Amino acid sequence: MTDPAIIAHRGFAGVAPENTLGAMEAAAALEETTMLELDVQPAADGTPVVFHDDRLEGRRDGRPITDETGIVWETPLETIQSAQVLGTEQTVPTLEAVLAAVPARVGVNVELKNPGTSMLFPGETLDDETLTQQRSKWDPFVERVLEDCGAFDGEVLFSSFCEAAIASLHTNAPEYAAAPLVWDDLEAGIETARRYDCAAIHPPRNAITGIGMVTTAYAGFDGSEPTIDILEIAHDEGRAINVWTVETWHQFEALRAAGVDGIIAEYPGLGSWGSEERAP
Ligand code: G3P
Ligand code: MG
Repeated sequence: MTDPAIIAHRGFAGVAPENTLGAMEAAAALEETTMLELDVQPAADGTPVVFHDDRLEGRRDGRPITDETGIVWETPLETIQSAQVLGTEQTVPTLEAVLAAVPARVGVNVELKNPGTSMLFPGETLDDETLTQQRSKWDPFVERVLEDCGAFDGEVLFSSFCEAAIASLHTNAPEYAAAPLVWDDLEAGIETARRYDCAAIHPPRNAITGIGMVTTAYAGFDGSEPTIDILEIAHDEGRAINVWTVETWHQFEALRAAGVDGIIAEYPGLGSWGSEERAP
């Protein structure tokens, strides 16, 4: 069995200021890193910026993320770019800047977070009318993201919790690999992957059947055993399974043994920590 690909979550957010240029460069410099996962959403002028939360102040452990406030997609690009990530020398980067800094040896997993509004129908499959409505929001943003990605020589894998984002990619850039992100509805993830012939599916870590201690409550799951084996189904259909977000060696080891293809990891070196070690 081959070892899973290591996808650095927000640039190994467990040890670096998440989604910053510095995090991406540091994660890319590690031999183990296969891909960098990052979150994109538009600034007020539509420019894709790399940031996770809806609001620039955000919240991590009760503290704000940056020294700016306001909703990302209502904030001018210049303000976002000058937003200082608190406790660091880092600012909030554009997608273009990150892709220009990252060597093509590592790929990027670009998570399409929202198209300039709060996240739309995460983890759900949509009826035709809703899909059409949502596409009108997603298509212009996806177009901007594709422009930036066109300048990157490495591998690009898109993912999103929103079906309409995956649909937009399928229409506008079928040459790129894409993956629905799953929250709690495994069937919806499989259905979306089938509808748009996705290369992969990205379920939360405890959605993988039979992995014992990994099945504590996480994401939309309550900790009970999943009702379907998404790994087996995906593999039967020729799709990869990349699992988010992996934080301990025990999780890593169980998922590796189960045969997942990719681990979206919070920390570097997880696979070699050993059973006695814990997250720093
Ligand atoms: O792409 C996997 C993971 O990043 C999804 O959740 O909230 O960390 O973007 P989140
Ligand atoms: Mg993400």
